Amino acid sequence: MTDRDSSTFKFNANPYLQVPSFYDIDGPVNPAIILGEGNFELEIGFGRGQFIRERAAAADVKILGIETKRKLVYLCAEKAKQQKLDNLVVMHGDAREVISRMQPDGVFQSVFIHFPDPWWKARHQKRKVVTDAVTEDVVRLLKPGGHYFVQTDVDFRAEEYLQILNANPHLEPVHGNGMIDENTFLARSSRERRSMELGMPVYRILFRKL
Ligand SMILES: C[S@@+](CC[C@H](N)C(=O)[O-])C[C@H]1O[C@@H](n2cnc3c(N)ncnc32)[C@H](O)[C@@H]1O
Repeated sequence: MTDRDSSTFKFNANPYLQVPSFYDIDGPVNPAIILGEGNFELEIGFGRGQFIRERAAAADVKILGIETKRKLVYLCAEKAKQQKLDNLVVMHGDAREVISRMQPDGVFQSVFIHFPDPWWKARHQKRKVVTDAVTEDVVRLLKPGGHYFVQTDVDFRAEEYLQILNANPHLEPVHGNGMIDENTFLARSSRERRSMELGMPVYRILFRKL
């Protein structure tokens, strides 16, 4: 076997590189082609996949998950298989790019973003997920009355997200200024659970599409 053969073998043998990726889809992405029929939901940055799997087990929905780390996509898909969950699909991609290609509008009943990283360093600001541009795409993809749920344990990020969502003319807070006390979606993310166990605050932001 030549050096080239052995490196090709290693590449193909890595299961993380075999996960379905949005980069393998050219042009528009139609969630119905991926999910089939049903009430569609979307989770951005599912990490270990605890929320998406609990949600799939608890609710009559079809959920699509987008995650930048291929390893996490693989691990979540394996766990979902063991749990015999057939109503979720997890794929690799940068959600900011993927949702900009999603069509048609008004397909999701809920969109979840739990604990997007705080990005403390100035040079990491460009990695932020909850931005005006992402919010515009989320709003476009939500059905009227659909929910946009964001959670964080970072107080100044919660303020920032509230401002971003409040500034969008097609969204309204579900309660008061948009903060809610409890997560009513029958599932929790790993970070949410850990913050609660440590007694740290969890800022929960829930808006509805008009
Ligand atoms: C702090 S972790 C939180 C994970 C999980 N949501 C939770 O609450 O336990 C943030 C996750 O978002 C993912 N992520 C960051 N930017 C992303 C992007 N642009 N598109 C998709 N996933 C992203 C990261 O890889 C990471 O798994």
